Amino acid sequence: MTTLLHISDLHFGRILTDVLEGLKRSIRVLAPEMIIISGDLTQRATAKEYQQAAEFLSSLNTPYFIVPGNHDLSTFRVVERFICPWRNWKKWIQSDLEPQFSTEDYQLMGINTARKAGFYMDWSRGRISPSQIQQITQQMSHAPQQQLQLLVAHHPFWLPPQYEARHLIGGRDEALASFKGRGLDLILSGHVHIDYCHVLDGMIISHAGTTTSDRLLPDTPNSFNVIQGDKNRLTITRHHWQQGEFQLSQSQTFQRKNGQWHEA
Ligand SMILES: [Fe+2]
Ligand SMILES: [Fe+2]
Repeated sequence: MTTLLHISDLHFGRILTDVLEGLKRSIRVLAPEMIIISGDLTQRATAKEYQQAAEFLSSLNTPYFIVPGNHDLSTFRVVERFICPWRNWKKWIQSDLEPQFSTEDYQLMGINTARKAGFYMDWSRGRISPSQIQQITQQMSHAPQQQLQLLVAHHPFWLPPQYEARHLIGGRDEALASFKGRGLDLILSGHVHIDYCHVLDGMIISHAGTTTSDRLLPDTPNSFNVIQGDKNRLTITRHHWQQGEFQLSQSQTFQRKNGQWHEA
C-alpha cells in the first residue's frame, strides 16, 4: 500500500516555527514514502527564504516531490520576475520546475502553473496550458493499468461553493475534458489555504491548506493530507494543527469502479 504525504503553501518567510517542528514530528511518525509539496514554498521568493526552505528540505529523511507556486516568483523585484523568474528556485530547490517520478505503484506528474504575468490584474492566478495538458495525457497513455496517476499543480481545479470567488486555474475546463476517462486518479493542489477532498468527473481533487504558515483564513487551521491505498481503493486523511500537534481531523475513503472514483 502506498502512503504519500501531501503538504502545501509552507511560505518560508511566514513560518510558524512550532508548527514546522510539529510537521517534522508527524513525518517521523507517519513515515510516508514520499512527501508531495504543491507550491508556495516561500512568501516573497527571496534568497533568504529559499535558503531556509532548502535547509528544511535537506533535513527530511524522506524523498520529496515539489512544484512551484505563485509566491515562488518575486512580486516586487520586477526585473527578476521578467528576466530570470525562476533563478532562486533553480539555485536553491531544483533545476526542474515540472518534475516527474514513478514507481510500480504510482506516477507523479508535476506542472508549473504560476505565471509571471497575464492579461489580468491579479498575477497570483495560475494557468494550465494546452502543451501541459498534452504532456500529462501523453505521460498517462504509457502508464501500467494498476499505477495510480497523480497530477500535482499549485492552483485549484475545483473549489467548495463558499470559496468560488477565488479563481480556478485558467484552462481548467479544457484540462478536465482531456483528463476525463484517461486514467487520471488524483489532482493535488494548494494555493487557497483550505483543505478538502472532492470527486469531480470521476477524479479525486485533494487540497492541503497552508501546512506551516501564519497566512491562515478564519477558522482554518494549518493542515496536511495523507493519501493511502492503491488503484482500486484510497483513503485520504486530513490532519489539522490542534493543541500543539497535527491531529487526524477527517477521513474519506474512495473506490474506483469502471475507471471512475466514488466516495465510499
Ligand atoms: Fe499560498
Ligand atoms: Fe498560491
